[in-house]
Amino acid sequence: MLWLPGPQCARAERRRRIDPFRRRGRGLPLPDYNGWFDAKTVADLYEGHLGSMNKRAAGHRLTLLGRLHEEIRVCTACRLHRTRTHAVPGEGGPSSRLMLIGEAPGANEDLQGKPFIGRAGQFLDALLAASGLVRSHIYITSAVKCRPPNNRTPKDDEMATCRSLWLERQIELVDPDLIVIMGKAPLRQLFGDKMQTRLSDLHGQIRLREGRRYLLTYHPAAAMRFPVARRAIQEDFAKIAGLLAKPARL
Ligand code: URA
Repeated sequence: MLWLPGPQCARAERRRRIDPFRRRGRGLPLPDYNGWFDAKTVADLYEGHLGSMNKRAAGHRLTLLGRLHEEIRVCTACRLHRTRTHAVPGEGGPSSRLMLIGEAPGANEDLQGKPFIGRAGQFLDALLAASGLVRSHIYITSAVKCRPPNNRTPKDDEMATCRSLWLERQIELVDPDLIVIMGKAPLRQLFGDKMQTRLSDLHGQIRLREGRRYLLTYHPAAAMRFPVARRAIQEDFAKIAGLLAKPARL
């Protein structure tokens, strides 16, 4: 039991009627009060207080992410903006625990400004469903935000620009517990040349970078074409739920 100022104190009583944690009338109705709150009531009130703080923080993140997407949509920092229809910033909640990074928008994504909505996107959706993951709970983006002409591989300078201007900020803001790198392009973009780039050796591994966990796997488009890559990506995605159940910071 926790003692809180009782009716004998007029000021405390006035404050009590408003809110014992000065929440100014927002949130839960106050329970009956006889000078004491039991531990559960105190815990509930405190949780309500934290909950409203978290909601405000989440709302703030949403605003910041929305602004970042707006900036990406008008980016002209590299040559890719000249041939795009729409930049594709990414999609998903600002507090997603899982982030997926692909290579670059394709023709459908370029037309609609949304990530992974073409054939590779359909493959990804099936993969997520088979792995018990829900797309709307995931933040999805790509190494570069604009479609390279004829779907060529993004060049190193394009990836470097897009990383420092946008991708690093997306990672900071969403602050996911796990990031899945899908394919060689984002692997090279975030880990550089040091990493040998044979995905057949690397897939399924967890790498640390700046205190964050990255799971390395194939790109869904490669997995659609090559059965070896398909089996590998299925195995890798099957690990994600278990990884999310473990502490995020190693
Ligand atoms: N491939 C990607 O890497 N990103 C997309 O948005 C679509 C296909």
